[in-house]
This record gives sequence, C-alpha cells and structure tokens, in this order.
Amino acid sequence: MSQQTPGSTAMQAPQGDAFENLSQENRRFAPSAEFAANAVVTAGEYAEADADRPAFWAKQARELLSWSKDFTQTLDWSNPPFAKWFVGGEINAAYNALDRHVEAGHGDRVAIYFEGEPGDTRTYTYAQLTEEVKKAANAFESLGVTKGDRVAVYLPMIPEAVITLLACARIGAIHSVVFGGFSAEALRSRIDDAEAKLVVTADGTYRRGKPSALKPAVDDALAHDGHTVQNVVVVKRNGQDVDWHEGRDHWWADTVGAASAEHTAVGHDAEHPLFILYTSGTTGKPKGILHTTGGYLTQGAYTHKAVFDLHPETDVYWCTADVGWITGHSYVAYAPLINGATQVMYEGTPDSPHQGRWWEIVEKYKVSILYTAPTAIRTFMKWGKEIPAKSDLSSIRVLGSVGEPINPEAWMWYREVIGGNGGRKQTPAPIVDTWWQTETGAQMIAPLPGVTATKPGSAQVPLPGIAVDVVDELGETVPNGHGGFLVIREPWPAMLRGIWGDPERFKETYWSRFESMYFAGDGAKKDEDGDIWLLGRVDDVMNISGHRLSTAEIESALVSHPAVAEAAVVGAADETTGQAVVAFVILRGDAVDTGDDIVQELRNHVSKEIGPIAKPKTILVVPELPKTRSGKIMRRLLKDVAEGREVGDATTLADNTVMAQIARSLKK
Ligand code: WT7
Repeated sequence: MSQQTPGSTAMQAPQGDAFENLSQENRRFAPSAEFAANAVVTAGEYAEADADRPAFWAKQARELLSWSKDFTQTLDWSNPPFAKWFVGGEINAAYNALDRHVEAGHGDRVAIYFEGEPGDTRTYTYAQLTEEVKKAANAFESLGVTKGDRVAVYLPMIPEAVITLLACARIGAIHSVVFGGFSAEALRSRIDDAEAKLVVTADGTYRRGKPSALKPAVDDALAHDGHTVQNVVVVKRNGQDVDWHEGRDHWWADTVGAASAEHTAVGHDAEHPLFILYTSGTTGKPKGILHTTGGYLTQGAYTHKAVFDLHPETDVYWCTADVGWITGHSYVAYAPLINGATQVMYEGTPDSPHQGRWWEIVEKYKVSILYTAPTAIRTFMKWGKEIPAKSDLSSIRVLGSVGEPINPEAWMWYREVIGGNGGRKQTPAPIVDTWWQTETGAQMIAPLPGVTATKPGSAQVPLPGIAVDVVDELGETVPNGHGGFLVIREPWPAMLRGIWGDPERFKETYWSRFESMYFAGDGAKKDEDGDIWLLGRVDDVMNISGHRLSTAEIESALVSHPAVAEAAVVGAADETTGQAVVAFVILRGDAVDTGDDIVQELRNHVSKEIGPIAKPKTILVVPELPKTRSGKIMRRLLKDVAEGREVGDATTLADNTVMAQIARSLKK
C-alpha cells in the first residue's frame, strides 16, 4: 500500500452501533413473475460479464450505439490509471442521441415533455429536437467554437440546456455545466479553470412563482480582465431586463433561431473529451472531472436500459435531477436520448405552486419510471401521504434513488406510497437504489428490477461488468458481515479520464490510497448475503440533499470574510437533507460579536461565495477549535457537538481544555 494522501489522514473505517443495525434488515421484495417475464435484461448478464468483462462491454458498445468507425481494441490499460476504451473507434454522441432515431423512423416519438415552473409546456419530438441541436451546432460554430474548445453552460432546467449539451457534443466542443444555484464567484473560477470560449446562459428562470436571475452572475463572472470568453448566448426565459454587452452577448433566438437546420455530424475519437464537470473534493478547489465519449455513452446507455428496465416505445421516464449535476448529464441529457426514450423535464421545485406538483406531473404524463433523491422522498414523507394520494400514480412501474444512502423507512414509504399508488396497487413498483459518483460517470451498484430481490436501504450488487469491492485498511477484501472502504478493482467504461489540467491530483486522489484500485471515498459494509450497504463518505466531503460540498471549500469561503479568523465545517446528520452544514468560527480580535447579525452576514457571505446550497444551517461562534499537535482540526469532535452527542475521544488534542471551552461558549 502506498502513502495516504494528505486529505485522507483522518479517514476511519466506519463502525459503531448504527452501522451494526443495518445488517439486521431482512425484508426482501422479489420481482413479480410478470415483471421478471417482461424484463429487458436477465440474470444471465452477470455470468456473461464475469466470464469476459471487456467482451461484455464491447458487445454493449456495438449493440447500443452506432459507431461511424468500429473500434479495434476494447480496453487499453497499459498505462494505469489512464484508461482508453474502444480504441480506434469513432462516434458522434449527438448523432446517437438524435439523428439515428429519426433515420430509424422514430422522428415522431416524443423526446422531451417540458413542464415549465409557471405551467407553460413544450413538447419536442426526436425530429424537432434533432433540428434544434443542428441549429445550435451551426450557431456555436459561427461564433468560432471548434472541436476541443470549452463551452461553459449556466442554464436552468429548460430544453435549451439539453440542446446546448448535445450541440457541443455534436461539434466536439467540451461542455462544462455550472449548476444555476452556484454563485458568480463559483462560475468565474470554473470558467477560468477550463478557459471557456463561449458561455450559454439565460436571462433567468422561475423559483416558487417568481422570476429569478442568472445573467447578472455571468456578467459578474466576466467582469475581470484576462478571461477567455468571447461570446455569451442568452436564452430568453423569464423576460427580465438584462445588462447587455454589445458584441459579446447574443440572444439565443437571434443566433440559434436564425441558424440553418442542416448539419452533418462527424465521428469523434472514442476518447475525445465530452465534458468537464466540477465537483467538490477534500481540498478547497473543485476538481474538473473529465469524461470522454465512447465509454461514457456505452455504460450510460446500458445502465439506463438495465437498471430502469427501459421499454422505450412505452415508458415515460422522469429523472428529477438538474442538468447541473452528473445525474442530469448521464440520465437526462445523454442516456435516455441515446436509448430513444420519452422523458419529462421539469423546471421548478416540488412545492410550487403547491406540494402536489410532482404527482400532478406524474399523472399528467403517465410517468412510468421515476428517478429521484432520498432527500426529496424524506421531504414528501414530512408533507404527508395525503398529498400524493390526490393524484393517480398507477403508471409508475420502476422507482430509482440516487445521491445518498436511502434509509429503510424512506425506502418503504417510497415503495408503498409512490410505487404502490397510495396502497391502491396490488404489487408496488420495485425500487432501484443506484450508487455512483460524478467520477464513475454512470451507475455502478444497483439491483436489476427484474432479477434482484430488493432490500430496503441497500444498493446491493455491482452491475454486470463492474468490479466493486469492500476492503480493509490494507486493501484486503472484507468477509461478509464486515465493513470497510468501497473500491473499484477493474477499469469501467464510464470512468473519469482525469482531472482537468491536473493529472497528478487525479492519481493522488483516487489511485494512491490502495494499490491498483480506485478509492471512491465512501465507507461500505457487506451484509451476510454479500449485499453492499453504503455508509457515507469517509473523507472531508459532505452530502447535503445529495449535493456534494467539501468542508474545506466552505471553510475557505468563511475565512475570506474579514471578521473570521478561523473556521471549521462539519456535515451533521439531518433528518431531511441527510447532512446539514454546521460551521464553527473564531472571530478576529477586532471583530465585534454582534450575535445573530454576524451569523446572518456570514451565512450570506458563503451563499455569495459558493451558492445558496452551501449556506451553513448553523454557525457557532467559538473561542477555539480542537486541533491535534500537528495542527489538524479534529472535525470528528465538532461533529459530536453539532449532532448533540457526548464528545468522543479527545486525547490527541494539543490543548485538552478546548472542548470544554467550546461547550461553555455554546451554553451562553
Ligand atoms: C457521492 C457522489 C451519483 C449522482 C449523484 C451524486 C453518494 C451517491 C448513493 C447511493 C449511498 C450515494 C456517495 C458518493 N452517493 N449515490 N445510492 N447510496 N450514497 O454524485 O455528487 O459525485 O456524489 O454521493 O457518497 O461518493 P456526486
């Protein structure tokens, strides 16, 4: 085993009582005979993939995708951890998502049912979406964007987001989506890191019935000299006034709208970069996760078909994730369209104009596959089952979960209330809990709904062709009934190819903790059946409502405020959001502790620096922070305080009176 990375020194194998209880789950829900009989994949896939993993993926690549040039080698792993999949192959992602379905006679099939937050709707058939993407491709090219250029995308959940991504893919430009909830500052650092040439944005969107702006953040992000952006394309969405930079800014309607609808897609190398997506790591600076084309599309398409049991002619699929996250890339923009599915896209929040909005959408479009996050499910639980009961949810036949561990209570509620149409259905829909990451690009651990007997709370089994394991400190496989670290032992098609501009950080972050294995950063346990239970991150990464944030990132935002001398952030258990951000700050000597005012100011400051999702739920002003002799903050102890527990072993503190000082200051 090699040296631990600096950020990983505090990592501990998960243990404790809560963890032991998980293995006592013995409810099982086997697929119904009818479901199993009609399932698109069978148990045979596991054996087939085990027998020859590369051959299995080569078969999927050729069956699910259309290559303009066939590949000559399935996997080149001669220079780990830098993998090459489908070597020599050429493929166009947009052609696969669009044109080929039209050519196959499915041009009239609905690709997207769009439901705007104010209630406006739009429907795009495959033929119409293909036309829009061709126009956008021509428009971007006319603005000087060529193969390999980076395009930053800062858009709400509207069809133009999908159109933009596919138009970039079509011309070989690399998109870098920045979630619309991130601040101007976060946007600026991502635009600069990727050296984007074009930004695609909107005037704004709607949030809870009110217009909300996006364009001002782009203007702020570009307010400094030396940035690389030449043009900004602006979708008119909410009609708000915007500042206009003549020569730089262009309305979508004037550029894309006026462009030709003729555009021929050419194949790009299987390893041509498709996109960069920034995600939080253990240090302050977000990492630009790089994904390439052939492998990413193959695993996305395969998992979308197998895990959701997709029947593209009849299913209506709805993934509620925003396109700003990896789920919105893989399971909104790419895989569903590659597979020729019909999907719903919704712009707003679940509570607008009322708490039954989602269920009305399910009823209206007869959604049959719903993919969402545990935090949403727990929120609906809190609102009560009477709300979904007002809608007819009988169309639902598969339910997916992603983003964080789903607790067995939420799992059962999801099954009975949503999958069981409020108890009106004889056999509730199966739930697939899908574990994966921005880095893995596609789902890695999940039941197959027509094969696996599901277990509330467990993601259970690696997908066919995926080699996941749970290992101890030394990298040895743990026996059933034991916990450890989640690793991936063999390369997989949709794996990240690197961190943008930082190959060393790529090796160090993922490949140095254990020899020849990818370290995911998650703790996990194998139960007596060998099923995998995810136990949360073992590093300094937090998971707030399924969104990834690093403690270091928020700490550096806090200390950038003139009143703050030092800050430590922890993710404390939260009933609804999984974890909540709790910050401990030491104020500067000359800063006046104005109580609530300073706390409010600091919360707003974090929101401005990173985005509203990073706003600490609680900020506690303390006189000291618990540190080891080497100066490392012992977040474990702060977490005990934040979660209202007795403080654990503090013997390695440099100053053993610190925890008592903190306790005294918080009592005041
Ligand atoms: C982290 C990755 C994958 C899309 C959304 C999140 C946690 C993700 C599960 C799950 C338990 C999960 C892990 C992982 N996670 N899915 N089904 N059960 N934990 O992507 O932002 O890259 O975060 O989310 O901790 O490491 P991400």
